[in-house]
Amino acid sequence: MAKSKKKDSITSAEDKKIRKELDAADKLVDDGDYDTALKKFDALLDIFPNSPRALYGRAQAEDKVAEKWKSNEWLQTCIDTYGKVPSQKNCPKELKKQALMRQANRLSFYGKLRQAVKAMGRLNELVPGEPEILNQLGVSYLMVGNNNAAKRVFGEVMQIRPEDGFAQVHLGFILKSETRYDEAIPLLREGIQTGEEGTIDGRFFFHLGDALYRTGQPEEYWYKNGADRGLFASMYQRSLYNEPNLRAQPFWTPEDGGDNFIRAVKRLESSWRIIRAEGLKNMDAEKGVFLPEEENLKNTGDWKQFTLFQRGKKQEANCKRAPETCSIISFIKDATGCTRGQVKYSIMQPGTHVWPHTGPTNCRLRMHLGLVIPKNGTRLRVADDIRTWQEGKVLIFDDSFEHEVWQEADSYRMILIIDMWHPDLTDKQKKTLTPI
Ligand code: LMR
Ligand code: MN
Repeated sequence: MAKSKKKDSITSAEDKKIRKELDAADKLVDDGDYDTALKKFDALLDIFPNSPRALYGRAQAEDKVAEKWKSNEWLQTCIDTYGKVPSQKNCPKELKKQALMRQANRLSFYGKLRQAVKAMGRLNELVPGEPEILNQLGVSYLMVGNNNAAKRVFGEVMQIRPEDGFAQVHLGFILKSETRYDEAIPLLREGIQTGEEGTIDGRFFFHLGDALYRTGQPEEYWYKNGADRGLFASMYQRSLYNEPNLRAQPFWTPEDGGDNFIRAVKRLESSWRIIRAEGLKNMDAEKGVFLPEEENLKNTGDWKQFTLFQRGKKQEANCKRAPETCSIISFIKDATGCTRGQVKYSIMQPGTHVWPHTGPTNCRLRMHLGLVIPKNGTRLRVADDIRTWQEGKVLIFDDSFEHEVWQEADSYRMILIIDMWHPDLTDKQKKTLTPI
């Protein structure tokens, strides 16, 4: 009863005349009888081709079929149908809203992000100034990487509703990425504190803690809070793209990793001089081979990298510059095939400090092969454990744990970083995990 009442706002005057049939067809969808529902909506549309609700009902049935069979064809069909609902004769505004909202949602699910932005934009024109819609429009701008447009939209929400937690955390998140920490912190903190839907997300706890730390304020509370809520595996392990049931510890021995790790370490350690020679040759080559680290992880200093494999893809041009190293690496399938990692040289100059930070995923372990290691003054902290590198030796750690680097020596340090699939992953996981 309540449910059917709820549909008043999406039922046009004409649709009221066939209300019983429409409600009955909707019920078939609710009950999972999609075939009969589709037939019923088609029969209704045959007689009343302009009926907004019959078309919307049809879209919902198609949507369910797409979900049930994981079918992209049906997904596209329902997207198209949702898109036609607003142009039906006398379509109630509320129905236009629901159809476009779901259409945008399905488009982003399908990965058609630019079209999702368009659908949200269309919706925002239809009903301007609605915080929920503006918030979703902001999210779709973020997903296509248009941070400026997203910022404008979340700002608009805060004009209308200054205490909107969803807009606060998202605006804070964007400002944090622009290193505007002082503005980001209160937005992230207050946004999270509203507890509104969409605010309790690892990314916001992650970046709030980081912004606090970088501005000299206590951050642990937020890491602990995030871990307690299950947003992080633990206070120290704050990666956000995780698979369950993988062993987790800051440092690893080759034996911990098993046969593949033992073999890989042997291969790297027995060839380290060749690998070093190719690193040095490229270090001396023209500018632009080694590129500055770009993720804003560095506090002070000079840190450059030269990438050979990225997301499981060989970087052909770079491998031509380090052919022997790439051929050595090509025997290590858990590295070349690691779509959640890289293989790269890393050079750090004296005076470099890398902020405590956490990698994106628990699915890889990071090997560092020491190539040029000054006698004193370089350190790597992972969780509570501080170690240093040795020339010709491999050090293995899990970079989903918080780690930090100091380079206070009097000359540069060079290593080769080799990311390996976590040894507890199955072959199927390695094949199907989305690249990062
Ligand atoms: C890291 O992997 O974050 C750093 O340890 C890399 C490096 O060059 O030390
Ligand atoms: Mn790191």
